[in-house]
Amino acid sequence: MDAVLVALSGIWLMLPSLLPNPAAVVFGGGTPVDFGKSWRGKRMLGDGKTWLGLIGGVAAGVSLGIVMLFVAFQFDPEDFWGFESCANGLGVIFVLSLGSLLGDMAGSFVKRRLGIPRGAKAPGLDQYDFLVGSILLVLLVYPDWFIRSFIEGEHILALVTLFVAVPILHKVVNVIGYKMGKKDVPW
Ligand code: CTP
Ligand code: MG
Repeated sequence: MDAVLVALSGIWLMLPSLLPNPAAVVFGGGTPVDFGKSWRGKRMLGDGKTWLGLIGGVAAGVSLGIVMLFVAFQFDPEDFWGFESCANGLGVIFVLSLGSLLGDMAGSFVKRRLGIPRGAKAPGLDQYDFLVGSILLVLLVYPDWFIRSFIEGEHILALVTLFVAVPILHKVVNVIGYKMGKKDVPW
């Protein structure tokens, strides 16, 4: 496969991981996932992680994924543009979407333990927590698919591209969210 296509496949396959966080900003609010509870004197997750954000974010990732599978099927019914089959694609999409927001919550958990307040910057963690969450969960549930698509041979290029592109995308999306008045801070 063409190197550029392999690189781009990393972004394409991970779109269901990239959407849930911005979607959670749009849909979020109300009851926090930790129900306001603290642990060792600090909030478990904080008010920035809500049930509506979690459910809305996963629903958005899965909805996008279903559209992606539908489009991919029209052009490539053999491989669904890397999702391999309808059943594999649906499973992968759900796992990526859920893993994204679980990773985001794990990031907030770590931030609270370090005494970093809700919404304050944690460079590295803020950019990568959701991506690492998606990758770990998909490695657990669909390890062979992940290795085929992101590790084996030239496919490592897909993973490298992803890790380079994600902080840039994160910055762009957060500035847009800030300008739209959806986020209080541009990060
Ligand atoms: N959000 C939500 N529920 C989630 C994730 C995000 O409601 N599960 C919404 C919240 O309004 C949150 C915003 O999306 O404030 C931005 O998300 P994020 O930057 O991840 O949260 P922060 O407010 O920065 O909190 P933290 O410091 O815990 O990351
Ligand atoms: Mg934040």
